[in-house]
Amino acid sequence: MYNNPNLIFEQSIPQGKTGWRSPSNIALVKYWGKKAVQIPLNPSISFTLSKSYTETTVEYSPAAEGESAVQFFLEGEINEQFGEKIHAYFKGLDTIFPFLKQLKFTIRSSNTFPHSAGIASSASGMSALALCLCSIEQKHFGGMESKEAFFQKASYLARLGSGSACRSLYGGMVSWGKVDGRIETSDLWGTQQIKNVHPDFLTFNDSILIVDAAQKKVSSRIGHGLMNSNPFSAERFKQAQSNILRLMDVLKIGDMDEFINITESEALTLHAMMMTSNPYYLLMKPNTLNIIERIFDFRESTGIPVCFTLDAGPNIHLLYPEKVSSEVKVFIDDELKTFLHQSRIIEDRVGNGPENLNL
Ligand code: DP6
Repeated sequence: MYNNPNLIFEQSIPQGKTGWRSPSNIALVKYWGKKAVQIPLNPSISFTLSKSYTETTVEYSPAAEGESAVQFFLEGEINEQFGEKIHAYFKGLDTIFPFLKQLKFTIRSSNTFPHSAGIASSASGMSALALCLCSIEQKHFGGMESKEAFFQKASYLARLGSGSACRSLYGGMVSWGKVDGRIETSDLWGTQQIKNVHPDFLTFNDSILIVDAAQKKVSSRIGHGLMNSNPFSAERFKQAQSNILRLMDVLKIGDMDEFINITESEALTLHAMMMTSNPYYLLMKPNTLNIIERIFDFRESTGIPVCFTLDAGPNIHLLYPEKVSSEVKVFIDDELKTFLHQSRIIEDRVGNGPENLNL
């Protein structure tokens, strides 16, 4: 839909630099299953995070014939594997940004969360890169004067790199994927959903508890693919449709018990889908379950509204409203830290979305 043969340099080919900071996000209703090209099989909704982000700068200049097009540095070190992936991504954008083949790039990325923390950086990384490409377009060709148009295109492009990345383009809460019902949301890009969200949810904390920092054995790409043959997938896709509608109601009225119910059920369902795939696999670790048990007990005995979600890995995202944060911090120190890898915690919270580095 964004194909545009006019985005090509006719006379001189410019050089320049652009940069964006873009956050990671954590899904409450999970995207799990997709069809070509990067279209989700069920809708999802996430909290945009604040402190877990990627900063990416893109330097570009005219490419000579046959020259290597992308040099990629991660945390200051050249990374050829990622460089090749980005090059392949750029080639796939040929009809959207024909000018990409006229340029060579030096891209530098760094994450605030350690690469070895077992936290996926694809959402923040791909959204930051997509924003940089849109900035190059805007600077040299114009045409995206409205902020909405700019971010929608960036979200569309981020989705092509990694599905969940399209939800990192906006602050607060962001949905992605068609819903057969009342909320405005699309398969093609993320849509911010904060108008009807109770303010308590927009200041939520997410303490990311690192149970295991090793790279996971089964990638999300493979996991999505296994949903095509999972015997429970059709029911799961229906359930996600109904959960996102339920969650939107809950967010509006601020019903914390229902919020907890939907969020935890979604996390466990995601992992149940992995366990019921063929081949089956398991990404939770014993300490993931130890922590979950403690959260259930703590919530039951204190009535404090704290809950968990998981992404496709063993680490726990502990979610709670700001007003109970001092009690929850004591709970983490006293009962949960012992289960963590090197006592590692990333203290995050709901954030406001990407920032231009104005280079
Ligand atoms: C479990 O967005 O990483 O985090 O589109 O193949 O890049 P690709 O997958 P990815 O999948 C994320 C899955 C999830 C749930 C979610 O974020 O909604």
